[in-house]
Amino acid sequence: MKGVVLAGGTGSRLRPLTQYINKHLLPVGDLPMIQYAIDKLSQAGVRDILIITGKQSAGLYVDYLGSGDSIGANLTYKIQDQAGGIAQALALAEDFVEKDEKFVVILGDNLFQDPLQPIIHAYNQQAEGAMVLLKEVEDPRRYGVAMMENEHIAYIEEKPKHPNSPFAVTGIYLYDSTVFDIVKSQSPSARGEMEITDVNNVYAASGALSHMFLKGWWIDAGTHESLFQATLLVRKEFN
Ligand code: G1P
Repeated sequence: MKGVVLAGGTGSRLRPLTQYINKHLLPVGDLPMIQYAIDKLSQAGVRDILIITGKQSAGLYVDYLGSGDSIGANLTYKIQDQAGGIAQALALAEDFVEKDEKFVVILGDNLFQDPLQPIIHAYNQQAEGAMVLLKEVEDPRRYGVAMMENEHIAYIEEKPKHPNSPFAVTGIYLYDSTVFDIVKSQSPSARGEMEITDVNNVYAASGALSHMFLKGWWIDAGTHESLFQATLLVRKEFN
């Protein structure tokens, strides 16, 4: 299984810090944010990892991570010239993934406690379709929210004003290469972005979107408050 870390975007909710550096290089505890996703993948035996980032700070990723050799990873880098949404960034992974190969995608600002290995194992047992990971949260309005029917995801609503469930769709996704055709069939949303939620809803509509719940803590470190909380969590966990 290969891994893809999405580390682009404008980081608008972390301005002014992100005016001079890409969000995923900001420190979370002792490490740059992106290191946590890379470590999770490496620990699960995923060595071939594609990092997709924007033009801003691109060289700093190479300065910091290099080829990945020192951490047992084999890194490839791709540049998303202009931020156009998570699904648009994901489309850049098409050449990296073999046909019929499964892969795991992590949004670089998502930090979490669970190991990936059992999740990858469960997805490998699945014949087709995609898998998302859910986490019950206090304020689901910040996230994609899973509407459940008979313990299956019927639909995901992106940042709903009135969430139907407390289950956030985390930024950890498992796909096979069918995802690239689905991305191509989509158009930008009202905010002008290619939404990963639209892609996942294609799977959900055909009953091909499975899910698991994260057991440990999970945080999207994309705001000042959550970046601070993420720092507290990782310092507690790793120090
Ligand atoms: C993205 C996804 C959203 C998901 C979240 C998880 O939102 O669009 O569905 O719940 O990541 O971190 P963003 O944080 O990019 O606005």
